[in-house]
Amino acid sequence: NVKVETLVLFGATGDLAHRMLFPSLYNLHEDGLLADTLTIVGSGRTRLDRAAFHTQVREALADHLPEDRLDAAALDGFLARIDYCAVDAGAGSGYDDLAALLGERMARPIGVYLSTPPSMFGAIAQGLAAAGIACAECRIAMEKPIGHDLASSRAVNEQVASAFAEDHVFRIDHYLGKETVQNLLALRFANMLFEPLWNAQAIDHVQITVAETVGLEGRVSYYDGVGALRDMVQNHMLQLLAIIAMEPPASVSATAVRDEKVKLLRSLRRMSAADVKAHSVKGQYASGAVDGVAVKGYADELGHASNTETFVALKAFIDNWRWKGVPFYLRTGKRMPKRQSEVLIQFKPVPHNIFARVGAAGRGGDLDANMMIINLQPEENIRVKVMAKQPGLDRDGVKLKEVTLDVSLSHSFAGERRRIAYERLLLDFIEGDQTLFVRRDEVEAQWEWIDAIRDAWDAVDLAPQAYTAGSWGPSSAIALIERDGASWHD
Ligand code: BG6
Repeated sequence: NVKVETLVLFGATGDLAHRMLFPSLYNLHEDGLLADTLTIVGSGRTRLDRAAFHTQVREALADHLPEDRLDAAALDGFLARIDYCAVDAGAGSGYDDLAALLGERMARPIGVYLSTPPSMFGAIAQGLAAAGIACAECRIAMEKPIGHDLASSRAVNEQVASAFAEDHVFRIDHYLGKETVQNLLALRFANMLFEPLWNAQAIDHVQITVAETVGLEGRVSYYDGVGALRDMVQNHMLQLLAIIAMEPPASVSATAVRDEKVKLLRSLRRMSAADVKAHSVKGQYASGAVDGVAVKGYADELGHASNTETFVALKAFIDNWRWKGVPFYLRTGKRMPKRQSEVLIQFKPVPHNIFARVGAAGRGGDLDANMMIINLQPEENIRVKVMAKQPGLDRDGVKLKEVTLDVSLSHSFAGERRRIAYERLLLDFIEGDQTLFVRRDEVEAQWEWIDAIRDAWDAVDLAPQAYTAGSWGPSSAIALIERDGASWHD
């Protein structure tokens, strides 16, 4: 793959650029991973000269990187790569200035990274094409969300496709940049231990939880009307689900991995109006306390009542041979008691308990079934609960106890700096590796499943149930799983 020679960053004065993109690019620069010839052009609506933009970048790095990462000489070298050009993508002006700047001094291929409101993606792609910036080998990266449903995501994808071929389109799901998410592939496909059991014969159910303590965080205009289903489930959670449940790809090539993910996403059973009543819960946080700090309810933060869900729990099924009848419970919410993303694999109990004593109560059913808990963040570990014999002479029969096999990734790889997810994604974008980016058919399959849930919610007029901020969601979310004889792993 040809490497990007000029990286153009739309939305360069925005929050994501300041918090994540420039710190990530700086880290790559500092580690010597960017070619000396790579130029970065920041672009935003605001008119700024190069020096003023450099001041912004300096401040962003100081605010968002640990002090010991910042080295004066490296910082000067980094800023020397960076130029600025104002483009008002909404008004469609400034593309000619950008084209002139790129034409004069910048080498191709150009990689354009859109960290702008998603409503601008299609227009920017077309603006770039009209100004001659979308050359055949140029590529484009886009943040989520692509559209707000299947029809609108198709429209965006069409507009982008008229300027950039699909193998030059990089759709970002920043969860795929997380080391622990990539480690799911290693866990499943670099070990013999788990994969033979990774199916309906051995697994009772799977839980995927992405809990956040934060609330609206000043994102009112984006979040209200979007809600947790579109904001978290449509992308991050379905990508996690796809990686956990897909068939083994033949290699880690972009095509092999994404072919398997899309097959899996298309096997998700569509929910009907009857299903959503039994298999989905919408919640919205009311006032409460998180980490001992009192917080307002969602509607209070917003200033008016709203039907937007800040929590969602789902019971999903995958209609294929491997997962026949295995429920996948998904839940995500804001203002939960702690920040925690984890996957839990609940195995079935042993078919027969040889340790049960004749005549003893609960015979055969008294062994805890194995459980594997994969913590994605903030802790990074994998724990497997197994039964062990308690030491003793066993005069009253063998006593068993659940013990934990604990693999702490932070300990095992203690010397290595934990990279920001965007470092990996930006580098892959620059180098042209699409494996960790979402293909058009994946995004569209994700929307198809989500749209069916939203339509069913509308059909039955499902309103969000209140939950106290700092709790694990509405009580019906607990009932959703307990009806099946299981419980959420908190
Ligand atoms: C974003 C969502 O995609 O992911 C946010 O829009 C959410 O609402 C964020 O807070 C969570 O990301 P992370 O990396 O903090 O788990």
